[in-house]
Amino acid sequence: MTNRIHGVVNLSETTLRVSKIKDGTVIDHITAGHALDVLKILGITGRVNSVVTVGMNVPSKTLGLKDMVKIEGRELKSEEVDKIALLAPHASINIIRNYKVVDKQLVRLPEVIHDTIKCANPACISNSNEPVQSTFYVDNEEPLRLRCHYCGYIMEKQDIPKQF
Ligand code: CTP
Ligand code: ZN
Repeated sequence: MTNRIHGVVNLSETTLRVSKIKDGTVIDHITAGHALDVLKILGITGRVNSVVTVGMNVPSKTLGLKDMVKIEGRELKSEEVDKIALLAPHASINIIRNYKVVDKQLVRLPEVIHDTIKCANPACISNSNEPVQSTFYVDNEEPLRLRCHYCGYIMEKQDIPKQF
């Protein structure tokens, strides 16, 4: 039995699917478990005006399980979303206008990452009370490895999600 509630969810006995949106941005194929980190990167708190829908552990043909985020009424620019590549290198950004996908892009890793994650070295100047913005260089893309501009500390892929 399918229970269709317009604009909210379609429920059936085995699946829960999030509705299509009219206008906005869909961030799809987020590595499962990282949807909330993605919201944090985008600065989406509980106090935004847009309608934001978060899907977690949604079955995906290619990824097994994935997370997704739909932001209505807002078209995110690629620079805004590229930081997502730190957590979800396979995420895709879909721009939706009048229910149609008008643009689809994969996230790209920026060369330099400012003020997004904390250095894992507690003694790093970027972790002190000094007004210093954290800065990392991408040392290697696959597997991801970041190098701190200030102390040279290397953060490996598995260390990165903890530093948001
Ligand atoms: N989507 C949406 N609202 C729309 C159109 C699309 O929320 N009006 C969502 C879809 O649910 C999907 C994503 O945007 O999560 C991309 O849509 P589409 O390209 O139609 O889906 P796929 O072909 O499955 O995409 P991909 O090939 O990237 O997996
Ligand atoms: Zn450092």
